[in-house]
Amino acid sequence: RIPLLIDTDPGVDDALALLMAFRSPNHRLLGLCVTAGNVGLTHTVANALKLCEVAGIEVPVYPGCDRPLVFPAEDASYVHGRDGFGDVGYQPARRAAEAEHAALAIVREADAHAGNLLLVTLGPLTNLALALRLDPELPRKVGRLVVMGGAVTGKGNTSIAAEFNVAFDPEAAAVVFDGFPDIEVVDWEAVLGHGFRHADVNRWLAADTPEARFYDAISRKTRAWSEGKRGEYWHSADALAMLAALHPEHVLEKERHFLHVETQGVHTRGATVVDWQDRTGRPAQADILLRADQAAFEARIRQALGLPD
Ligand code: BDR
Ligand code: CA
Repeated sequence: RIPLLIDTDPGVDDALALLMAFRSPNHRLLGLCVTAGNVGLTHTVANALKLCEVAGIEVPVYPGCDRPLVFPAEDASYVHGRDGFGDVGYQPARRAAEAEHAALAIVREADAHAGNLLLVTLGPLTNLALALRLDPELPRKVGRLVVMGGAVTGKGNTSIAAEFNVAFDPEAAAVVFDGFPDIEVVDWEAVLGHGFRHADVNRWLAADTPEARFYDAISRKTRAWSEGKRGEYWHSADALAMLAALHPEHVLEKERHFLHVETQGVHTRGATVVDWQDRTGRPAQADILLRADQAAFEARIRQALGLPD
């Protein structure tokens, strides 16, 4: 089984992605590295532990960075709730997090599984940037790196030009995109092309499984928010990234180009500028997902929620 390490900021859509990973028979989940992002670190760590408990999964949870590398950032509690899990007031998990920092855990696991590790990031890239500074050999050791982040045609979900995970910590994203020669990118634009009807999602979440019940509860507010803002279709950014990570065979179209992260600008801080025409001559490091198999995506989400095929 492929060793899998996930860096995440749960977060409602992180939770769905994690449930997908928990159910994958072909992967061995080594642990969850956690960062601040959607909400503060205390909440994202508590949410990760709780989700494991709900799903009956016992993997180590490593707390990481509680803020971006350089500048203060704004969270996304207006989408995910003040606690990041829809403010349903769940009973905290019984288990505690590890003492080891997430960045150190990334370095250690990449060493232990050199060449084979599948590393997936579902949140800001702060922990990974730090890990890269701790171990400059990291890119050689990580087998595949899949990043949910960016807005490759410049249509951001957080600012005019920037997607949340990059906008939260542009310096960290710049470190990662400058340092890794091969990154599979699932950006916000791709996410918008892979929505599901709210009516279908509501039907899946009515299932009587622990995962569906919990996910129904924690996602209720954000689903209502997204219906009000984006209409008929519901999107899960992190779940799409997880599909691409766990099932590369379901990625139907992608393009590889050089990608630069802007750290300055009146409107462009956190923008991901893609050299679509290969004008810069810079090595193309970003493998950008354009289209995935929507039926397979639906099947994997249903499986993650414990629904029958
Ligand atoms: C990303 O931002 C977060 O709010 C989501 O969890 C996802 O990782 C989408 O832009
Ligand atoms: Ca996330």
